[in-house]
Amino acid sequence: MQQTLKNDRYLKALLNEPVDCTPVWMMRQAGRYLPEYRELRAQAGDFMSLCKNPELACEVTLQPLRRFDLDAAILFSDILTIPDALGLGLYFTPGEGPCFERPIKSFDDIKKLAVFDPEQELGYVMNAVRTIRKALAGSVPLIGFSGSPWTLATYMIEGGSSKAFTKIKKMLYSDPKALHLLLDTLADCVIVYLNAQIKAGAQSVMIFDTWGGVLSKKAYLEFSLPYMQKIVSELIKINENRKVPTTLFTKNGGQWLEHIAQTGCDAVGVDWTTDLDVAKSKVGTRVALQGNMDPSVLYAPKEIIEEEVQRLLAQYGEGSGHVFNLGHGIHLDVNPEHAKHFIDAVHIYSKPYHMK
Ligand code: CP3
Repeated sequence: MQQTLKNDRYLKALLNEPVDCTPVWMMRQAGRYLPEYRELRAQAGDFMSLCKNPELACEVTLQPLRRFDLDAAILFSDILTIPDALGLGLYFTPGEGPCFERPIKSFDDIKKLAVFDPEQELGYVMNAVRTIRKALAGSVPLIGFSGSPWTLATYMIEGGSSKAFTKIKKMLYSDPKALHLLLDTLADCVIVYLNAQIKAGAQSVMIFDTWGGVLSKKAYLEFSLPYMQKIVSELIKINENRKVPTTLFTKNGGQWLEHIAQTGCDAVGVDWTTDLDVAKSKVGTRVALQGNMDPSVLYAPKEIIEEEVQRLLAQYGEGSGHVFNLGHGIHLDVNPEHAKHFIDAVHIYSKPYHMK
């Protein structure tokens, strides 16, 4: 199947091909800052019920696209579907975020984990991808995603969200062999999971390494990056006669951009702690860049949002290879009107940078 996309500037920018203006989407663009999301979630009962119902997951994916002129849709799901499929028992408690009934406590727990068949164990995700692709009808591309092995392992070992990551760092420094086995198993799970999403219709994939930035450089190069590199090298590269671009995003990973760019990925996500001109000088045109407005800028009045968009566009400069985004997920108390203003500003003010 080769479907013509009405708007393919997101895929083009990831591959450094010319575009008419800079494409933009927002991390966590579907979610609680939208009243229509809160309404549907209240009806569904809880977050995982939304994820597990393909029609509801599709509806929630489309909600921000009805309001805003976004250049991509992102699958509505969560990175923690993999540990859930591995039997850890994911649940969400209000105010505390994700938790596991059976976190990883020992080498024995790790040895028992086995790669699953994603169409069997996570069929609801693939059904959501297929339903969303049909509903998008070629309007914009669909992004599939996964957590990085390191980031997934933090949740599996800490038992949920963490601030200091003491349990996983204890394992890293006292039993590195056990952690490597866990990360390697997770990398194999991510490979089959993302390839199943691609076969189901995801047109690009992104790996969220939300917690890679809490490591030292030495530990990052041993425990996070090599596993993302393994994934990148095993992913389906062409599907539906089109290249399937891969984006790696290590939050707080600005110091290691050259290393990330060498994995063979097509794009690297950057947060607001790294300037786009500095990032560009480090990676050249080898990879595209995605980012990097501080999501808190959306609390500012519209003039300030516009100024910040213009500042970041100027920082990246002329030419393709930039996907505008927030440097992390949108905050849940942001006014959706401000998000709209942000997205429109990117399209309007980026045109002069693409005249040649
Ligand atoms: O971007 C999108 O719109 C797509 C959907 C998406 C979600 N989670 C939906 C979600 C994506 C891409 C994610 C990724 C994710 N999940 C990450 C990596 C990205 C990042 O933000 O760093 C991480 C670390 C998670 C784990 C997770 N899931 C957390 C920490 C939480 C928040 C818990 C809370 O109570 O705020 C979730 C739940 C979650 N995932 C929500 C949504 C919309 C909120 C659920 C709700 O209460 O409705």
